[in-house]
Amino acid sequence: MKGKLESLVDKNNLPAHIVIIMDGNGRWAKKKNLGRISGHREGMKSVRAVVKGAKELGVRHITLYAFSAQNWKRPKVEVDALMELLKHYLVNESDKLIENGISLNAIGRLWELPKNVYEVLTETIDRTKSCNELTLTLALSYGGREEIIDGIKEIISKGNIAPEDINQHNFSQFLYTNDLPEPDLLIRTSGEMRLSNFMLWQLAYTEIYVTKTLWPNFRKQHLIKAILNYQKRERRFGLTGEQVKKRDVI
Ligand code: FPP
Repeated sequence: MKGKLESLVDKNNLPAHIVIIMDGNGRWAKKKNLGRISGHREGMKSVRAVVKGAKELGVRHITLYAFSAQNWKRPKVEVDALMELLKHYLVNESDKLIENGISLNAIGRLWELPKNVYEVLTETIDRTKSCNELTLTLALSYGGREEIIDGIKEIISKGNIAPEDINQHNFSQFLYTNDLPEPDLLIRTSGEMRLSNFMLWQLAYTEIYVTKTLWPNFRKQHLIKAILNYQKRERRFGLTGEQVKKRDVI
């Protein structure tokens, strides 16, 4: 059954692509006198709730910043635990993803993942590839600057494009996100006002929503609040408010 908040969502103005910086697992754990890993474990519940919630709301693409290129520098026990959680998620959720029409996708320097994680990841991507209701993209060993550098290397080595012909459109085809629409809404939990090397290219015109809620406490209701806030915004893409209203340029 739809809640009161959900009934306020305008289904004709849904963000097609929501990206989330899931932050605050460590602080959630600290508040409860638990170790950081308990925070990540609890954060997995939010991952499940948010993916399910996004699907129910009719969102087409959701991207979660699950492990950054910089996260490898965290203590080994924490890195190992995050990799285990990821593997566990992939093994256990695979059937549920298929039942719900969710295809899994991943972006980042995936070749840096431990071999067993990489294998189960590619297997899950393959198993879910014909699902077409929601795309769940996990950003893993991901960095926005790293992505741009990797894109430059690709366009130089395989692009077959003269330097003077490089433009925003053809360059973006060499980013990890080449088959995803640009994000409409970025949600960051735990109140931090920074991008932390996430989707630096893609976020150019994305609406940003920061909530103080720590990631392990984030549920479908919070997602709905973020969407309702997004729906009040006027997106201008560099134009004037009048131009946007007349829709004479876009
Ligand atoms: C940030 O919290 C969170 C992460 C670095 C990892 C997020 C990972 C998960 C929720 C679990 C794995 C996800 C998937 C999809 C398998 P933090 O540790 O930086 O928190 P803090 O800033 O409060 O210390």
